[in-house]
Amino acid sequence: MPITAIVLAAGEGTRMKSSHPKVAHKLLDRPLVWWTVRAAREAGADNIVVVVGNGADEVRAIFAEDADVTCVEQAERLGTGHAVRCVRDALGAFSGPTVVLYGDTPLIRAETITSLVDETRANHNACTVLTMCPPDPTGYGRIRRSSDGSVEAIVEHKDCTPEEQQHLTECNSGIYCFCGKRLSENIDKIGTNNAQGEYYLTDMVAIYKEMGEPVSAICADDYSELLGINSRSQLATATKIMQLRINEALMAEGVTMLDPNQVWVGPEVTVGRDTELLPQTMLWGATRIGSDCVIGPNTRLTNVTVADGSSVEETVGYDTIIEAGVTVGPRAYLRPGTHLLAGAHVGTHVEIKNSTIGEGSKVPHLSYIGDTTMGSGVNIGAGSITCNYDGKHKHPTVIGNDVFVGSDTMMVAPVNIGDGALVGASSCITQDVPADALALERSRQQVIEGWAAERRKLMQEED
Ligand code: UD1
Ligand code: CA
Repeated sequence: MPITAIVLAAGEGTRMKSSHPKVAHKLLDRPLVWWTVRAAREAGADNIVVVVGNGADEVRAIFAEDADVTCVEQAERLGTGHAVRCVRDALGAFSGPTVVLYGDTPLIRAETITSLVDETRANHNACTVLTMCPPDPTGYGRIRRSSDGSVEAIVEHKDCTPEEQQHLTECNSGIYCFCGKRLSENIDKIGTNNAQGEYYLTDMVAIYKEMGEPVSAICADDYSELLGINSRSQLATATKIMQLRINEALMAEGVTMLDPNQVWVGPEVTVGRDTELLPQTMLWGATRIGSDCVIGPNTRLTNVTVADGSSVEETVGYDTIIEAGVTVGPRAYLRPGTHLLAGAHVGTHVEIKNSTIGEGSKVPHLSYIGDTTMGSGVNIGAGSITCNYDGKHKHPTVIGNDVFVGSDTMMVAPVNIGDGALVGASSCITQDVPADALALERSRQQVIEGWAAERRKLMQEED
């Protein structure tokens, strides 16, 4: 039976003090609700429904490219039971295990969801509740158990007696696995006779108890996994937990970190063995780092592939491919479309955009290279740049193999510099340079013997 996951994400999140919906706030480089959806997917949910309400368009946009995610709008927020009912009304009856999760509980692990589904299947449960024992149960729904220990009901904090508020320490995490068929048939039984006048999904437990349907609970051993995010402070706490969870996993696979508290790695990044991640490094998006690399310090790479044995120091890079044995930085800026071939070197205060730097070619100091195809064995002197933009259009520069470009050269595109050519320092190259030629564009140097000494003498006489 396919697994359905319903992710409740319609809430307002007033405590975030934000003009964006709460679940769109980022934990590392992904929105909160993205993490819940990922956990559901990893647990085998093939049909994921996100209930949107506040900032619906912004939440929908997060999943615009995910074919397995459907968004259902809950126009009026009448409670968690109402949210699930909206999904049934919009998409039809549920079938198979139906897991309910929250979009603001990003630390939930796939394994936990799986154990909930397994329990439901094994006992043919109508509902399995994931419970927890947080240090402070205030505000949470409490698990009321009968004398034989079986789950009887979930009672919201506001609906508990003062004794229950004090003594019932086992809490509802808000995560459940239901039998889809029985949920569809019985969800209309939920009423609003409670302190908040809301349709509580938690009421399903007592409803099933009444019907004699089997219900059970699993208590999560790690309460932090169920941390809900309501404030920026809780967002920071959850971010720290996820950061260290990812970093611990990387270290277990052979990645070195000088300080795991100062490295941030997104959930889809891979890092190879014996690679060292230095402080203040952020690896985002679909970044792939090979083995035996050194990344950082002070480096942010987004969708960057780095092959084995390369080093990237104090660099910002986006949508770039770095082949093996390349050295980058300190202080380079690699913009989209950069491709650094094996053994290339991009040095300090260098910006590269939409360009290929050939094998073993070097752009060591203070350069801008844009819209350029560069062959192998090229050396670009300090301060040399491509002038690729005429104020309206971008133009290409082609540099052949084994070209030597002297320092402070302006290559005004479109322009071609042939294989083996040499460009003299401080030239402004506006015409193509044939292979093996020398191009020089500078006025001849004048030398006037004794001129400086004469000037000094005159100045001394004035004093
Ligand atoms: C809920 C549970 C409580 C549990 C707690 C755990 C109910 C009645 N109570 O309480 O037992 O201990 O979670 O955190 O379910 N949402 C919607 N639409 C709605 C209402 C809520 O999408 O109409 C979403 C919210 O965005 C939020 C989640 O559901 O992500 C929980 O809703 P909330 O009203 O905050 O429930 P709690 O009071 O936290
Ligand atoms: Ca010049």
